[in-house]
Amino acid sequence: MVALSSQGHLNPMLRIGKRLVNKGLHVTLATTEFTVTACSNLPPSTPPPPPFCFFSDGQSLNYDRMANYESYKKSLAKFGTINLSNLISHKKLSCIITNPFLTWVADVAINHGIPCAMFWIQPCSLYAIYYRFYNKLNSFPTLTDPDMSVELPGLPLLHTEDLPSYVLPSILFGSLPKMFSEMFQNMKRYKWVLGNSFFGLEKDAIESMADLCPISPLGPLVPPSLLGEDEDHDRGVEMWKAEDTCIEWLNKEAPSSVIYVSFGSVVVLSAKQMECIAKALKNSNSPFIWVVKQPDLPEPDGFLEETKDQGVIVSWSPQTKVLAHPAIACFITHCGWNSVLETISAGVPVIAYPKWSDQPTNAKLIVDVFRIGLRLRANQDGIVSNEEVERCIREIMDGPKCVELKSNARELRIAAREAVAGGGSSDKNILLFVDEIIESCV
Ligand code: UDX
Repeated sequence: MVALSSQGHLNPMLRIGKRLVNKGLHVTLATTEFTVTACSNLPPSTPPPPPFCFFSDGQSLNYDRMANYESYKKSLAKFGTINLSNLISHKKLSCIITNPFLTWVADVAINHGIPCAMFWIQPCSLYAIYYRFYNKLNSFPTLTDPDMSVELPGLPLLHTEDLPSYVLPSILFGSLPKMFSEMFQNMKRYKWVLGNSFFGLEKDAIESMADLCPISPLGPLVPPSLLGEDEDHDRGVEMWKAEDTCIEWLNKEAPSSVIYVSFGSVVVLSAKQMECIAKALKNSNSPFIWVVKQPDLPEPDGFLEETKDQGVIVSWSPQTKVLAHPAIACFITHCGWNSVLETISAGVPVIAYPKWSDQPTNAKLIVDVFRIGLRLRANQDGIVSNEEVERCIREIMDGPKCVELKSNARELRIAAREAVAGGGSSDKNILLFVDEIIESCV
């Protein structure tokens, strides 16, 4: 398996690895040497299996990859191709599973005569949207008709605000759309497409791709403890050290009383937006845990001092443990797909505040397909007001839809567990994948 150096990409990939190892395969996860410096708990403390191996991306370890992202990507493709090829040239591999953002890995696999699987890390619905968009199979907004709604098989009607960034005519010129375009027009390079989802969650979208370019969901790929499986100390890899003390604080809170707020590893909110969220949390009078990665938290009206008995602010939380805690009532999230799968597996309803990429579509699924949450609406300046946040908090904690949202979340939690349990839909898909790998070797 080849993974990108990112928390949200490495962890689901590691969990596929563990599931394959449990079915009897040998698995190695290759990633860049930089990943070792970026993660606080990579080997030797990360429990095997699967073992890691590393290749150089052609840059020194202290090179700022985010600040020089475009040139870094070129360097990664060039040196990754050479170094990964060297790494695997003496190994007898029967399959390479790769992250979709590392398109060059498929070429390395082909050059070595090894069948390649792509692991799609976003919802299967997003895979269906991008496939249709980049192969020009359906109509999407254009510069002359930017507000058209999109009707696709297996998906709800998508308005502009529900579409992923990389089909919007205004964003189509960056390097990611170019990469998606090349990838989705060359899907024959992949013998398999694996998904981090489960059939019961995205049935219609998955079925809509069956005759085009099927995707096989193996998930949800979240820590086993969230799925009621045996605790195997799987915390995944951590790019930031989690502040575990918030669990002790949670232990003292009443059941279903605490609001959890986190916007994942990439999204950064403006100071004005942070102030509105702070005000809303304070006015809600509910206990809260808020993950604030920025070093400077804006402090409206002495927010930190006034809420010191009401809530906890951490720079990084043990999120899956927090979501699984009985004191958590709801999750205000940017709708990153890992966070969505984690909240579904924990049965926690959602207040959605999507920013970009797949997140707007994920929010649409949360509200209209999974029916486990509400969506925050921004004003004309792109800011979600404190009144809007307070409205959604009231609604989800105690409003007329509260019981229905909680009950839907609980049902999906059960469905997630059934999917990965022996004989469940995702378990069957893993067995099928393993059988096909073995067959292609003989
Ligand atoms: C990125 C993209 O932003 C997202 O749109 C896409 O769906 C996946 O890749 P990211 O923004 O990091 O992901 O969000 P998410 O997918 O939710 O992953 C964040 C991970 O970090 C989750 O596994 C979450 O449990 C973990 N996390 C987050 C923590 O462990 N502690 C925290 O405090 C916050």
